[in-house]
Amino acid sequence: MNMITFESTRTSTIKSSPSMAVSMAAKAMRARGEQVIDLSLGEPDFDTPSHVVEAAIGAMRRGVTRYTGPDGLEELRAAIVSKFKRENNLDYAMDEISIGNGAKQILFNAFLGTLEPGDEVVVPAPYWVSYTDIVILHGGMPRVVPCGVEDAFKITPERLEAAITPRTRWFLFNSPSNPTGAIYSARELAALGEVLKRHPHVAIMSDEIYEHIVCGDVPFTSFASVCPELKERTLIINGVSKAYAMTGWRLGYAAGPKALTKVLNKLQSQSTTCPSSITQVAAAAALNGPQDFVVNAVAEYKARGELVTRGFSEIPGLEVRAPEGAFYLFPKCEAYIGKTTPDGAKIANDTELASHLLTVGKVATVPGAAFGVEPYIRLSFATSRENLGIAIERIGEALARLR
Ligand SMILES: Cc1ncc(COP(=O)(O)O)c(C=O)c1O
Repeated sequence: MNMITFESTRTSTIKSSPSMAVSMAAKAMRARGEQVIDLSLGEPDFDTPSHVVEAAIGAMRRGVTRYTGPDGLEELRAAIVSKFKRENNLDYAMDEISIGNGAKQILFNAFLGTLEPGDEVVVPAPYWVSYTDIVILHGGMPRVVPCGVEDAFKITPERLEAAITPRTRWFLFNSPSNPTGAIYSARELAALGEVLKRHPHVAIMSDEIYEHIVCGDVPFTSFASVCPELKERTLIINGVSKAYAMTGWRLGYAAGPKALTKVLNKLQSQSTTCPSSITQVAAAAALNGPQDFVVNAVAEYKARGELVTRGFSEIPGLEVRAPEGAFYLFPKCEAYIGKTTPDGAKIANDTELASHLLTVGKVATVPGAAFGVEPYIRLSFATSRENLGIAIERIGEALARLR
């Protein structure tokens, strides 16, 4: 018999996105008629602003329906260049911009385009679920630096220094952070920059996709704006998914040295060619147009963030740090590990705790293990305050049933 193996060795080294898996499980429960509240997925629950939708319709009517170059429409690149100037006081030339089908694809292209086998990427944990798998897929070795709630979920200059080796290719970090909501202040970024200045072989990838979603007192700062000497080896990753509720449109962008954007564009030309031309016009409208949608959405996230911080802090045994940005709460749940469910099953880790919250509490969450630290659970508050109120109650009750 002819045995065909469909999965390559390379692909077998990674797993499917765990947050997507939880959300699929929640959807399946809903399809069976169960009233599940899904706090597992990181996407805005608002509709894309109508002027952005109109711009896309206009693009279709005008016949902007063909391939674009791999670096995208000039009008989009110009919108990105002026966004960096206006919001971050950063000067980029048109050929220092790259676009992709979501920020995720830019990360993919950046590691595909730069890593040699065995190259190391320093990643503070908790990290966004896809970082380490994308690095591994491209032959790299994530060097994970755990930064728990006791560290305010942030890497210190000393720990960064200790993690850098002659094989380090990249330092990859995310602020505001998914899954913790932590934001690095300008001072903290400058201190990390001092370390990186001493290691000229290390490039910096700064994932700034939650830039606009700031809920606390720490303002967002773009890494390259406080470390101008490092701009020439920094790749800023950003996109329209989170700020403009455009997750399904698939448009991410990056700014960095021309030698790197050239590599990204070459990969783009041989993979998806370009993001949808219609999406590109819509993204330009989002970046150039009125920003009141963002202001209103952020005000709502802020109110929800306060609601969940208060609600979950009141549940005994959960250690809650108020998020400074993004739309996630990441409580530590150590007090519940080792406890027993009413059926006599022992909760050995946060994955089993999340599973208990789903089956008994009917709330979908993502375990800390997916983000490289345990024991925590991630709760997305990109859903209505009503849902959040119910989720707080249900989680409280489900946890109270553990002995
Ligand atoms: C930290 C972070 N970076 C990048 C992305 C990818 O965003 P997109 O591919 O939709 O632009 C996400 C999405 O969840 C994210 O949370």
